[in-house]
Amino acid sequence: VSQLLKVFVTRRIPQEGMRVLNQSGLCKVSLWDSDEPIPRTDLLQGVSGAHGILCLLSDRIDAEVINAAGPNLKVISTLSVGFDHLAVGEIKKRGVRVGYTPDVLTDATAELTVALLLATARRIPEGVEEVKNGGWSSWKPLWLCGYGLSGSTVGVIGLGRIGLAIARRLKPFGVKRLLYSGRTSKPQMGTSLDRLVSESDFVVVSCSLTPETQGLCDKALFSKMKKTAVFVNTSRGAVVNQEDLHEALSSGRIAAAGLDVTTPEPLPTDHPLLKLKNCVILPHIGSATYSTRGIMAELCANNLLAGLTGSAMPSELAL
Ligand code: NDP
Ligand code: DGY
Repeated sequence: VSQLLKVFVTRRIPQEGMRVLNQSGLCKVSLWDSDEPIPRTDLLQGVSGAHGILCLLSDRIDAEVINAAGPNLKVISTLSVGFDHLAVGEIKKRGVRVGYTPDVLTDATAELTVALLLATARRIPEGVEEVKNGGWSSWKPLWLCGYGLSGSTVGVIGLGRIGLAIARRLKPFGVKRLLYSGRTSKPQMGTSLDRLVSESDFVVVSCSLTPETQGLCDKALFSKMKKTAVFVNTSRGAVVNQEDLHEALSSGRIAAAGLDVTTPEPLPTDHPLLKLKNCVILPHIGSATYSTRGIMAELCANNLLAGLTGSAMPSELAL
């Protein structure tokens, strides 16, 4: 009887994923059986001797974790499309393969981005609050006005899988012009970041977090935006300099911001951004539909199994 391979799963995940692992007959699964993140010391202990690690975006997988796992380690499979939490250089050096979950969460994340954009631009959370707290005294011509998409210019920073899906969904709202900027140049409406930022009524960030995009949205960028512009970020919190964003929002330099991602996560409840009415913050729920999370878990588990057996992964990250 061949020995079962050791797999460490760093959190409770949807049962679709656990079923794939348990029914494979290939591995012995240890699970951090909680909905809360695994403490670092438990992570370092848990991965010891593992052939495979199934991790989340909240786990920092660096040289220390790889060393703690030891020479058995063949594969790291993350339940996310973003991989900025993985030290890819180190991982590559050790010949460990990486699985991730592109495509399957694109629709859910684009949908949430549109919801956040509309909620921010049309001041929906403020309106809901006013209904509850008695601030709604009458229909008032000048009250709770915001900005609409019809006839607008939308700029997408990072027109990847999700950025494109966002643009496609926004177009039917009557958007007049779509601008985008990316790392590599693409034909047609690709433009400079400066032009995108200064001409857009809505600036949507959907790029990956890299050393070049870290802090990309800073004072200089906000100072080029229209005063009436709405800023939306559903990529990673670290793409934004939050102090600069706070300054831009509180001084009226820009109209409003909607964020699904922050630094840190969770954002402390006394954070200055949470005091601003023109800032709508969600707890990183871009991909959070029941069906998407189930499919992500299944894909993540299948990536892991392929890494264990040395076969082709459904979604392998090219290192
Ligand atoms: P893609 O790799 O398809 O898209 C990323 C895009 O970022 C690419 O188009 C890339 O451009 C662009 N980019 C990279 N560097 C820069 C730069 N310096 N300036 C502008 N654009 C740049 O990934 P996805 O669309 O699938 O996912 C994007 C990100 O969204 C993920 O990395 C993740 O961080 C985040 N995400 C957040 C979710 C949430 O819950 N809020 C859910 C899912 C993802 P190029 O094509 O030229 O390389
Ligand atoms: C990702 O996959 O990178 C998201 O942030 C969560 O789905």
